Amino acid sequence: MTYRLFEGKDHASIYQKYRFTPPEEVKNIILQYLNTKKGQPHVLAVDLGCGTGQNSRLLAPHFQEVVGIDVSDCQLEVARAVPGYPNVTYRKGTAEDLHFPDGSVDLLTAASAAHWFDQSRFLAEASRVLKPRGCMALLGFTDSDTRLHYQDCGERLNHIYEEVKQVLLPYTSNPVAVSESKLEDLYTAIPFPDKERIECIRVNLTISVRNLVGFITSWSMFQAYKKKDPQTAEDLLLNTQKRFLEEMGVTSPDTKMDLKMGYFCVLASKPQ
Ligand SMILES: C[S@@+](CC[C@H](N)C(=O)[O-])C[C@H]1O[C@@H](n2cnc3c(N)ncnc32)[C@H](O)[C@@H]1O
Repeated sequence: MTYRLFEGKDHASIYQKYRFTPPEEVKNIILQYLNTKKGQPHVLAVDLGCGTGQNSRLLAPHFQEVVGIDVSDCQLEVARAVPGYPNVTYRKGTAEDLHFPDGSVDLLTAASAAHWFDQSRFLAEASRVLKPRGCMALLGFTDSDTRLHYQDCGERLNHIYEEVKQVLLPYTSNPVAVSESKLEDLYTAIPFPDKERIECIRVNLTISVRNLVGFITSWSMFQAYKKKDPQTAEDLLLNTQKRFLEEMGVTSPDTKMDLKMGYFCVLASKPQ
């Protein structure tokens, strides 16, 4: 089954605007792993579930060619509109049916996406298309590790964030729960003996109140909530922004707070 929760044009532009580019720390871990396991040359990276291409573009300087794959036309349209990356192309497709020859891919990545894939079909395709010693890197972040802070109001901001998550909890699809498990089952199912799962890479960012609220709108459970009741969903956002600003004692939604996030990364290398 292919999940189609990211199809809308609006959702794609929200993605482009508010989703985080994976942090340098995580990218460096992945490239180091690839260098250790397979080494140069880095010819082809394929980024599965690329969405609007944040992770695909991040890989561009390190590979001769990067191909982003996604099921959603709207996400791909937004990705293709970003100029300045001549070695990155985007194709419509699924992680379960990869149109690449056997043993042709150096690195397969999926950023905040592998939890949507059909596990066994994806792993069969990954095993087929990777070069010997080629690597897969399945990364993401878990919301349970997210912490907000602004001056002396830390816990109160986290409390508001937690309340939003509670409202959206009934709209959480099974795959999102799989991501929160840091892909435990998928990791276990990887057929390569050479694999590891890094459970928490701490990353410190700053984010404006406006962008944090925008980030919430990118969640699949928010989109599901909005589909059911657009006005209540809109009110939830307005109210959340208002509460953040009040707690912080500021009026501008461009005021920035600290955001700590926990990324995970599943790494595996195909046998020789
Ligand atoms: C949460 S988004 C992540 C997008 C991007 N990688 C990022 O880091 O922001 C998940 C993406 O996976 C895509 N997707 C879901 N199932 C897929 C599948 N089976 N094959 C390829 N893409 C898929 C969705 O269309 C969506 O764009």
